[in-house]
Amino acid sequence: MVEKRLIIALDFNNARQALDLVDNLDPNLCRVKVGKELFTASGPKLIKEIISKGFDVFLDLKFHDIPNTVAKAVSVAADLGVWMVNVHISGGVVMMEAAKKALDAHGAVTPLLVGVTVLTSLSKEDLLQISIRQDVEDHVISLALLARDSGLDGVVCSASEAKLLRAKMPKEFCLVTPGIRRIDDVVDDQKRVVGPVEAIRNGSDYLVIGRPITRSESPLNSLIEFNSAITGLN
Ligand code: C5P
Repeated sequence: MVEKRLIIALDFNNARQALDLVDNLDPNLCRVKVGKELFTASGPKLIKEIISKGFDVFLDLKFHDIPNTVAKAVSVAADLGVWMVNVHISGGVVMMEAAKKALDAHGAVTPLLVGVTVLTSLSKEDLLQISIRQDVEDHVISLALLARDSGLDGVVCSASEAKLLRAKMPKEFCLVTPGIRRIDDVVDDQKRVVGPVEAIRNGSDYLVIGRPITRSESPLNSLIEFNSAITGLN
């Protein structure tokens, strides 16, 4: 049995393309992620349809708002039946605690709540432009510690930071890592990219993969290749 550590990013602007891809994937081999583009285009109905096809859905809307608004938003996400939902850690401790409390009040089966540390598209120079003077890694660690202390289930970070975080976080605190590229893959707009094997070796629990699979000639074959590269690794 495959451990399902791959989360395929359905970054499309319409339901048709997303469903075409989903129908060519296997829910026993991966989970899927719906982000802002697809959700804005197709919304909750599509999420329910994807779930009905047997897929676990990571609703990647990266909520960042006042505590009450975020708590209500994650609660509605739980109603939809998603497997994972996320918030920006920079939204603050009170916001994260409110989101966690809202999910806890929701019942026995609730989505995993993870926090976004620093987007993998951002470099030290980008952080400086928004007045963050810490190194990327230091900033990621400070944010991840806040997420842990606020009761979140894990964080989204670059796989290059996973090693540092794994050493500081409890085993059950999950590390979700986008920005995954094999040596021959196009990097696109990502800056801090890591290969799948290295990502797992660094301690990632889940790898978010978009274009290297969704743009390939056979997404299913690419998925199988990615899975076989990481099978058996810890
Ligand atoms: O196509 P690619 O593999 O670059 O897709 C990465 C996915 O992960 C995108 O959906 C992107 O929004 C998401 N993501 C990211 N960096 C984060 C959080 C999410 O790239 N820190």
